[in-house]
Amino acid sequence: MFLGDTIMENNLNEAILDKLTKTCTCKAIPRSKIKEAIKNGASTIKEVQKATGAGSGSCGGRNCSPRINDLLKQSRENI
Ligand code: FES
Repeated sequence: MFLGDTIMENNLNEAILDKLTKTCTCKAIPRSKIKEAIKNGASTIKEVQKATGAGSGSCGGRNCSPRINDLLKQSRENI
């Protein structure tokens, strides 16, 4: 196996996990959708919520807002 194969495999695993992991459990919104919103320019929790519908579930965003914040932080660190 080559290094490129391992990197590709890791990216694939991450993509699969992003689709399976629900960032907003109330609305069943996957991490992939949150990341896509951030990639498309959402830069605050409110903007991500507006773009994805996250935060509008029964907990009012209490559970998913910290997870969205972590993803925003991660994306800023990776610039
Ligand atoms: S987890 Fe997102 S609104 Fe409850």
